[in-house]
Amino acid sequence: MAAQVIDGKQVAATLRAELKEQVAKLKQKGIVPGLGVILVGDDPASKSYITAKERACEDVGIYSDDNRLPASTSQEDLLALVKKMNTNPKINGILVQLPLPEGLDESEVLLAIDPAKDVDGFHPMNVGKMMVGEEAFLPCTPHGIIQLLLRSGVTIEGANVVIVGRSNIVGKPLANMLIQKNATGNATVTVCHTRTKNLAEHTRQADIVIAAAGRPNTITADMVRQGAVVIDVGVNRIEDATKKKGYRLVGDVDFEPVSEKASFITPVPGGVGPMTITMLLYNTVESAKRAVKV
Ligand code: GUN
Repeated sequence: MAAQVIDGKQVAATLRAELKEQVAKLKQKGIVPGLGVILVGDDPASKSYITAKERACEDVGIYSDDNRLPASTSQEDLLALVKKMNTNPKINGILVQLPLPEGLDESEVLLAIDPAKDVDGFHPMNVGKMMVGEEAFLPCTPHGIIQLLLRSGVTIEGANVVIVGRSNIVGKPLANMLIQKNATGNATVTVCHTRTKNLAEHTRQADIVIAAAGRPNTITADMVRQGAVVIDVGVNRIEDATKKKGYRLVGDVDFEPVSEKASFITPVPGGVGPMTITMLLYNTVESAKRAVKV
């Protein structure tokens, strides 16, 4: 039987409607949540992510302060802009789009962001707090994946979860969140990566497979057990002359054959992507609420 396709756009729309209401309530108190956005360079994928994030802000009523800087921007100028945003009371969240162009020190930039405005959840202070189970801004893609699973009725507690990919943005934080002793955790997690021996042996044991490797067809039908839940985090551009843009987007999962075996599957686009943006809005609204203690 074919899998139920999890509609990330729909789940995101429900969450965004909830956020819109909260923003309206804050506005009645004279508070407009603000997001400071910094994009350095002109990587086409980063540009389209940033545009989507800003549109989503506008949709729920969050003010966004858009800063697009040339790839030649110095580390000092970038740090100065971050520090200016740290002290700007109109800005509740700061987003520096990654990856930064070569020559810029990503770690130093992330460390310069005020942890109280770190709505990406990338500052080591928030990473550490998350790891020990304290309240922290949760990174958007892992948090979005967990919300998608829960809101689709998938049980995380006790599940064998196999994550493919160990990035700081997805694989590592997601593994941490899923092993927490709380209502959104309690899973048994395996993290696989490029040095894993016999990847398929691991993925075939999984109740939930999460593909975040950044490579098309990382997960094929023979690697998934009947009835597994499959979450595809990959966003890969494939040349396609039949498309106006000259490319199409595919995930890390061989969608059609895998959907014949899975019980639930996320599509690309329209699965995890809209949730990542929504959790960024969620963190920005949370930050605004914390700033005024409501
Ligand atoms: N690059 C890819 N994903 C993300 C993200 O969630 N936040 C930021 N800042 N950069 C990214």
